[in-house]
Amino acid sequence: MNTQKVIVIHGPNLNLLGRREPEKYGRMTLAEIDQALVALGAELGLEVEAMQSNDEGAIVTRIQATRDDGTAGLVLNVAAYTHTSIAIRDALVFCERPAVEVHLSNVHKREPFRHVSLIADVCLGQILGFGPQSYLLGLRALAAHLSAG
Ligand code: DQA
Repeated sequence: MNTQKVIVIHGPNLNLLGRREPEKYGRMTLAEIDQALVALGAELGLEVEAMQSNDEGAIVTRIQATRDDGTAGLVLNVAAYTHTSIAIRDALVFCERPAVEVHLSNVHKREPFRHVSLIADVCLGQILGFGPQSYLLGLRALAAHLSAG
């Protein structure tokens, strides 16, 4: 089996995981989540690259690059940009790669402005509300999609 490369993109403020509103986002750090994703990826035959940025433009540029750099698919938690970024949505359409949207918290139990996702309909699906497990479930969903295709 050839290993496929997937990218996990974490958006703004997720570098603070473990310290940021732990009652909403839990106590696991981003490094611990990334470690778990790399380990699960190895089980699933996926090479996982993870990146975090607080910068919308850096996220747009990284998503654009996935069209030509051998990336098979994406798992995305673009955090607050989920609710605001037409630019990230446009980059996802351009890259023509399957993407899974994930969130740690159940955004539908929170403020109304978090109920809107500008990327939901250009992703395969959404997984949210399961804390760090949302990422692992998202990676499993992407793996299943890639192996079916
Ligand atoms: C989040 C939900 C967003 O509304 C919020 O801005 C985040 C994190 C989540 O994972 O639950 O930063 O994407």
